[in-house]
Amino acid sequence: MSKVYVLDHPLIQHKLTYIRDKNTGTKEFRALVDEVSALMAFEITRDLPLEETTIETPVMEAKTKVISGKKIGLIPILRAGLGMVDGMLRLIPAAKVGHVGLYRDPETLTPTEYYIKLPSDIEERDLIVIDPMLATGGSANDAIHSLKKRGATNIKLMCLIAAPEGVEVIQKEHPDVDIYLGALDEKLNEKGYIIPGLGDAGDRLFGTK
Ligand code: PRP
Ligand code: URA
Repeated sequence: MSKVYVLDHPLIQHKLTYIRDKNTGTKEFRALVDEVSALMAFEITRDLPLEETTIETPVMEAKTKVISGKKIGLIPILRAGLGMVDGMLRLIPAAKVGHVGLYRDPETLTPTEYYIKLPSDIEERDLIVIDPMLATGGSANDAIHSLKKRGATNIKLMCLIAAPEGVEVIQKEHPDVDIYLGALDEKLNEKGYIIPGLGDAGDRLFGTK
């Protein structure tokens, strides 16, 4: 069974409060999503393997460590996942970025894939699927199936806020995919929105309605 990590660092929790606040406008919302994504990138990369190297400091030769050439791919789910890309790239600047375009039908809540463009070597990369919201889990589930169909074997999922219903779907469908969250909320409402959540992440990020 995949593991669920709630990254409850005080800075993440603090910023999430302002992200959730309905009085936070687009400019500030965008900046906060960017900052929280960078903080979460710090936590999600804790297990990157290191190798020893030797360098010369101004004082002497020293054996130190560097990340052992691990190849990472970020996979934002369009649209709202785009808001998390720059924050993560600040910490993992060499990562390649693939895009999966999905939208949720507002009536049926089922996702439809409308776009996919991935790095050519996804089977060799550690992939991090990013989306601010994991609600019914339909979008992330489809995106992960799409990646696996194309050869991906090593996938993590990172979301700002999740509902238990979405977590359950991912754990059932993808027991190999660990889930990293800023917060695990109470439930979904009858319209498929996360409660208390933050509303529509894409609309708040891009100022649409
Ligand atoms: C939102 C969100 C997720 C999805 C989550 O996207 O960014 O992708 O809903 O819901 P689910 O877990 O029930 O599938 P939306 O479909 O609204 O598209 P957008 O990012 O283009 O606004
Ligand atoms: N998508 C969102 O943007 N917000 C929710 O609460 C659920 C799905």
